[in-house]
Amino acid sequence: MSMLFPGVFPMVGLVAFLIGFGSSVASGQSADANPPQTSREILTLDRGWRFHLGDIPLTAFPGGEGIRLYGADITHSGAKAGHAWGAAARGFNDASWRQVDLPHDWVVEQPFDVNAIKAQGYRPRGMAWYRRTFELEPSDRGRNIELQFDGVATHCTVYFNGTPVYHNFCGYTSFTLDVTSMARYGNDLNTIAVRVDAEAMEGWWYEGGGIYRHTWLVKRNTVHVVTDGVYANPVKAADGKWTIPVEVTLANTGFDTASVSVDIGVADSAGRRVAGGRSATVNVVPQGEAVAQISIPVASPQLWSVDHPNLYTVRTTVWKDNRPVDSVDTTCGFRTLRFDPKEGFFLNDQPLRLQGTCNHQDHAGVGVAVPDSIWEFRVRRLKEMGSNAYRTAHHPPSRELLDVCDRLGMLVMDETRHFNTSPEYRKQLEWLVRRDRNHPSVILWSLFNEEALEVNEEGMEMARTMNAWVKRLDTTRPTTGGQNKGQLGRDGKANPKNAAMVLDVVGINYQATDYDKIRAAYPDKPMVSTEDTSQVMTRGEYVTDPSRDIVTSYDDVFRGWDRFSSARNAWAAIARQPSFAGGFSWTGFDYRGEPTPYGWPSASSFFGAMDLCGFPKTEFYIRQALWIHDRPVLTLVPHWNWAGKEGKPIKVMALTNADAVSLSLNGKLIEEKPVDTFEMVSWDVPYAPGRLEAIGKKKGAEVSRCAVETTGEPVALRLTPDRRALAGDGADALPVTVEALDRNGRPVPTANPRVEFEVSGPGVLIGLGNGDPTSHEPEKGNRRSLFNGLAQVILQSRWGGSGNLVLRAKAEGLESAEIIITIEAMPPPSIQGARPPRQVAASPLPGASAAAP
Ligand code: GAL
Repeated sequence: MSMLFPGVFPMVGLVAFLIGFGSSVASGQSADANPPQTSREILTLDRGWRFHLGDIPLTAFPGGEGIRLYGADITHSGAKAGHAWGAAARGFNDASWRQVDLPHDWVVEQPFDVNAIKAQGYRPRGMAWYRRTFELEPSDRGRNIELQFDGVATHCTVYFNGTPVYHNFCGYTSFTLDVTSMARYGNDLNTIAVRVDAEAMEGWWYEGGGIYRHTWLVKRNTVHVVTDGVYANPVKAADGKWTIPVEVTLANTGFDTASVSVDIGVADSAGRRVAGGRSATVNVVPQGEAVAQISIPVASPQLWSVDHPNLYTVRTTVWKDNRPVDSVDTTCGFRTLRFDPKEGFFLNDQPLRLQGTCNHQDHAGVGVAVPDSIWEFRVRRLKEMGSNAYRTAHHPPSRELLDVCDRLGMLVMDETRHFNTSPEYRKQLEWLVRRDRNHPSVILWSLFNEEALEVNEEGMEMARTMNAWVKRLDTTRPTTGGQNKGQLGRDGKANPKNAAMVLDVVGINYQATDYDKIRAAYPDKPMVSTEDTSQVMTRGEYVTDPSRDIVTSYDDVFRGWDRFSSARNAWAAIARQPSFAGGFSWTGFDYRGEPTPYGWPSASSFFGAMDLCGFPKTEFYIRQALWIHDRPVLTLVPHWNWAGKEGKPIKVMALTNADAVSLSLNGKLIEEKPVDTFEMVSWDVPYAPGRLEAIGKKKGAEVSRCAVETTGEPVALRLTPDRRALAGDGADALPVTVEALDRNGRPVPTANPRVEFEVSGPGVLIGLGNGDPTSHEPEKGNRRSLFNGLAQVILQSRWGGSGNLVLRAKAEGLESAEIIITIEAMPPPSIQGARPPRQVAASPLPGASAAAP
């Protein structure tokens, strides 16, 4: 076996890491030595939770009657360890609660309500409880036990076996809980209870509510690598040689001081070992931590880039008494980055314009409980648009999003939520850097967005402090902040007391009319448009009608500021600043909440280049024309279904990177026009049904062609899945596009039939959308109307399922459609990556489980 990490190993009971390679590094043998096992298990806790919407007073004793201690009612849930009351108590009867699997966002399940908070998308949020039990084997005694919560919206209190163990004050950060000393074994089940407070708001957009990211149970040796404890970010020395300076934080929850060494092995994307080494011995005292360090030279690695995102795996194995006791895989990539004050951004010493988008974290049908594979879908859509950079506005993203960006080649501006220098928020910022500093995709740390204090000394001091905290953990990436004012003083020169003074890269939100001045005021600082573009569009609409809450899709309606707010002008302004690293447009996708430009009944924003489902709007094609340089791009808008407007002028735009476009209608030339690189080209064409065709030319020669046709009435539905298969892991999900076709099989862009869906087989329909920001149709259930010809259904496999998942769609007067998705049986527990995706933690309470396939 020459592969270091063959994908799958049948394991009994354990997720055991293959570490033969670690020993081979030590002994000088080949990498295919018999793989010993370490004891680390990473089990998903996502399945089998009980959920209760609404709060439950903590004053209720599980048995119904109160207890008196020291002559008083003990009404505080945390008064005595292990004896929390109400729904926090171990014995609380939750049998009547609804069963849910995670990730879960209860807010997206709620009906729209005009009295609910507008910024959050007019949906009630509120409070809720989650409970789950799990079993630890008697043989788990003596191991380290950790719970991991990747994200809970928004604040929460976690109880473990009746003891309050954590208060979470950020809906975007992860937290881990070492519960070793409180754990129970055998039939004595462990209880997790989580009280979630989603009344708390951290943003001015939809934030959802619930345990909306993954949860994990980690069992490992008492001597182990702490979570996010491997720092392995390759660096290139001045002599051109690459090394990975590896730093491993170890902990010991055992009884005795442990003398350990750390073995590092580096494997390329094919699983071949390319380098390795072993650290000196370090001692880890009981209940203490220690750091092992070793630098691993790597000869001629394949570089990571946006076009060739080559990844490597660093396997860290802890050796104690000649035995491997823990092992962790970390993904990394070899690449250099440089922000230059004069020449912009360089990746691997090649200039690269950041063609970025800002994005929140919700998707149609699922709210913020976005399945991992839908992250991949979204990043793929952005890449299709020509984008190479992603700003996680304004929050720490999910780990899975960053994994996707690493894999697909998308650069990331990674943002913390709170501009705050108090200990709690320092913890959040440091967690972010620690978790994300190995991702080759991450190129910038963002410390804030449009903070009122960014303009003065207070904000400058806070930025200076946070900048220093980041630098203690990572010096390889610069810091910035999305600053919409304050860089300039009244005299038009650099304001000596503002945040930009102390950050590495000046981040400019909007302010395009001041680009030149800001540039001149900070001659020695790199610069990037951290946010620009404020156009609003309703997909598929070509008039603006406030009475219907719709906005035309010609890129000529934008919010506030100035003409630089259209997508085309915003990019033109950036393109004219050769020293800028590039820009991040607001936004790649529509998002719930902050309904702009309208309020109720609109419940989401209109800013996206794509709608909530990821269906393209005109801006998507504009960006393609502006951002794609290695192939011809040509798209015509609008559609050509304008019955009733015969003879009336319809504005037609060609979004193209050609230098001239000739347009003809029904074979008759209308006009050939030169193309302005940014403005592009448009015509007013008297409408006649038929075929409108454009030919894109470069230097007089045809390079591209595109046509839109008047369609007939819809006669049939069509379902198009994003992929044809799903892993039967209860998590893999895919979007299906729903369209209505005419007799000739052409999608009808104006069709809005109400469609009913039916699913059979080993999967479920987890959400529906159509991209209409004003729609109040439920996002759960089995019905949805098309909006301007499109709707989306999200399907997910069932745990342990295999075989055919069938989706049927029917609508009145239309021929039904059906597709079959193959659900692939999951192999036995595998070790793909540091956090093996989906092993189920042992049995929840009988009857309290959704565990059965
Ligand atoms: C920006 C802000 C974004 C969003 C946007 C809407 O100023 O940074 O979060 O609110 O305005 O136009």
